[in-house]
Amino acid sequence: MQKRLYSACLLMVLTLLAVSCGKKVVVESYAIIPEPVEMTDGKGSFALTTKTTCYVGNIGQNDASIKYISRVLRQWHFNPVLVGTPESNCLQFILNEDLDTSLGEEGYNLEINKDYVRVSANTEKGLFYGFQTFMQMLPEDIAEVRYSRIVLPACKIKDFPAYQWRGSHFDVSRHFFGVSQIKKHLDLMASYKLNKFHWHLTDDHGWRIEISKYPQLNDIGSWRVDRDNQPWGEADPAKPGEPRTNGGYYTKDEVEEIVAYAAERNIEVIPEIEIPGHCCAVLEAYPSFACANDDTTYTVQFGPYWPPRAILCGGNDSVLLFLKDVMDEIIPLFPSSYIHIGGDEAVKDNWRRCPRCQQRIRQLGLKNEEELQGWMVVEMEKYLKPKGKNIIGWDEILDGGVSKSATVMSWRGSQGGVAAARRGNDVIMSPLDFCYLNFYQANPDFQPPAMPNSLLTLHKVYQFDPSPAGLSAAQRNHILGGQANLWTEYINTPEMAEYMLLPRLCAMAEVLWSPKESRQWPWFRSKVARHRIRLAANAYTIGSGSFQPWLSVARQPDGSLLATLDWEVEGTHLYYHTGDGKFQRYSGPFAVSKDSEVTVMAFYHGLLKEKAYRLKVDGNVK
Ligand code: ACM
Ligand code: ZN
Repeated sequence: MQKRLYSACLLMVLTLLAVSCGKKVVVESYAIIPEPVEMTDGKGSFALTTKTTCYVGNIGQNDASIKYISRVLRQWHFNPVLVGTPESNCLQFILNEDLDTSLGEEGYNLEINKDYVRVSANTEKGLFYGFQTFMQMLPEDIAEVRYSRIVLPACKIKDFPAYQWRGSHFDVSRHFFGVSQIKKHLDLMASYKLNKFHWHLTDDHGWRIEISKYPQLNDIGSWRVDRDNQPWGEADPAKPGEPRTNGGYYTKDEVEEIVAYAAERNIEVIPEIEIPGHCCAVLEAYPSFACANDDTTYTVQFGPYWPPRAILCGGNDSVLLFLKDVMDEIIPLFPSSYIHIGGDEAVKDNWRRCPRCQQRIRQLGLKNEEELQGWMVVEMEKYLKPKGKNIIGWDEILDGGVSKSATVMSWRGSQGGVAAARRGNDVIMSPLDFCYLNFYQANPDFQPPAMPNSLLTLHKVYQFDPSPAGLSAAQRNHILGGQANLWTEYINTPEMAEYMLLPRLCAMAEVLWSPKESRQWPWFRSKVARHRIRLAANAYTIGSGSFQPWLSVARQPDGSLLATLDWEVEGTHLYYHTGDGKFQRYSGPFAVSKDSEVTVMAFYHGLLKEKAYRLKVDGNVK
């Protein structure tokens, strides 16, 4: 008995010792995404230990960024004592007394030497981003492993963003995602210095925000029959009386909680209320808002809905009243100066047939139905402007003639954004061929279902340029930035959302923050490998990436052709042959002949990935 007690005590002491000791590590190198503007190595190193202290300058310990920083450090078992003056072995967070104009509002300086880690910035946003960089300097598994000593190589960083709008859009209508998943998404955004959360709250597949004055929006419009066990596009029709069990909406309290959570992470939340299309959920809840003569029975959709004919009547004054009432409830919930009013894909067949819409067109002397949409957009803008809200719309709002003060979100390509910047509108670039993360990220044969006939690899996202050539400097100033969009038709779990977001969101973050000249694909690829470990340690699910290599062929001065292979996932080994069937390991450029084919296999951790690809030399010659 006594012996057993002794063993138990010994075990307890050993456990306590292990817990209090923690692991020791020397960090060899840093892999920061997005890449800082300037980063230089220093001499020596700093040891972060459980004895390290913390000094905050020109800012209170209860200010938001310092509270956030303390919380994270505590979570990682570092609980630095706050000291009144900077001392040795000290983490320092300092608001500049004299503004450093090179940093702007969001930039920061970070210096690590043997005595201190010092983050300084003009604003709390800058301090926050400096700390995000610091978090990425710590070991990849810090969220899982308890460390007691982390040695960090000395360095100096100066960093600030290329674009002010670094957005991530999330469609919570096609599938609903709860508060905890939205918070996890906001954490992800913050760690990659993304700052605008575009919350797509209404669509044909569900209305997702509490509106007190129109309770049927939630009682009816937020729910649909559950077909998640069937492939999107092959869903059985709803049975009469079948319970509506799929869906949900955010209560106002939940919205406030999310907006506050986002604000703590320097993220602005921009709600989107779709006008006038994508409104099946509204029309099932309030059928009188459909056009006269429209005898469709609308229901909240649970599968593909194309073409999206549901449209709010443009000739019915009660529709405008309804929209203004909704905005009255939206406005106080969101501190952002923007409200997104949708505007995309509004099929106008019903407007063409509707006596009320036609009457409005005649009465206002409008040319056509596009201008009727333009009029609705302007009406909303006139209503929102005095309340301190600017509108954003998808690029279709240009078709009906929009005011100069609307911001255009260019999604059907970049051309809408270019046209808008030329006419003096602010622009957010989100062209589908570079920014739609609901697209397949690799060969569909090896992926879970996603948008049919789509492909957007990590490498392609990394090529995105939000400021296309051909704009003057003044026009370029209208390009606020860019945004990754996540439509969720094929995404019905948090894990699948993350699988589609990652690692492509990392590429988007680097495109939007780092100078274009600093982009280096092989370096980015190697950083992603380390971020996979970090993300997994933080319980994110990550896409496997594409294993389809690509080929570029350079013509040599003597007319011969030299082929180079490239790939997406760090650690991939390529084997190729040029027609003789004898695979050899790729180690650098090789000779090819015109009109030939190169057959390539990608191996990762000793296994063939996907399949052998036959890449044509023709068409890849530079
Ligand atoms: C959109 O993808 N319909 C904006
Ligand atoms: Zn109508």
